[in-house]
Amino acid sequence: MAFKKATFITSAPSIRECPEESIPEFCFAGRSNVGKSSLINKITNKKRLARTSNTPGKTQQMNYYLIDEEFYLVDLPGFGFAKVPKKERDRWGKDIKQYLLQRNTLRLILHLVDSRHNPTGLDQEFFYWMASKQKPFAVLLTKSDKLSTNKLAQSEKKVREVLSEMNIEVPVIPCSADTGKGVKEIQSLITEFMEY
Ligand code: GTP
Ligand code: MG
Repeated sequence: MAFKKATFITSAPSIRECPEESIPEFCFAGRSNVGKSSLINKITNKKRLARTSNTPGKTQQMNYYLIDEEFYLVDLPGFGFAKVPKKERDRWGKDIKQYLLQRNTLRLILHLVDSRHNPTGLDQEFFYWMASKQKPFAVLLTKSDKLSTNKLAQSEKKVREVLSEMNIEVPVIPCSADTGKGVKEIQSLITEFMEY
């Protein structure tokens, strides 16, 4: 089902500043520049809800968006961005990990991977970490518009192989913030996890 209303609520530097745990939430995680903020805009059908940029490291806090008064979408800072000073990077890593582990109302983690590249070591660490902590997650293969149908299928296959080698069974959805591919599936997934 399409989402109707989307409003910005707050930017939280760490879990302490997040809104009260009241309604379900879904977060967008992944390396800097994979397209987390762009996908949130596409899913909510708002061009400028979340700020996007060509330059990695744009989103620096956990940004909360309230959807249809029912749940939050949370745009996370990207990880693995080399140009951010190490101290800052470590703090983000720590804050985000704490958020992912401790946020009781978090229903599902949407982990984005650029469909043009194989999952990196960091992506794989993240898969392993989430699975070992029994955190529900899905993999979104972004920027699918940049690949031919054939290449996209290969990329999807590769991600599924990597996951299956780790004995991890999660949804994998190719998507694009440009064409809207995958948006319906992502919306359905969110709606499904609202019930859990
Ligand atoms: P950080 O906030 O830095 O972690 O990045 P992000 O993951 O939020 O990425 P963002 O949405 O800012 O997008 C990064 C760049 O990729 C921008 O230039 C977007 O226009 C572009 N982009 C995002 N999604 C897509 C997509 O599906 N297709 C194409 N072609 N470009 C995209
Ligand atoms: Mg962003």
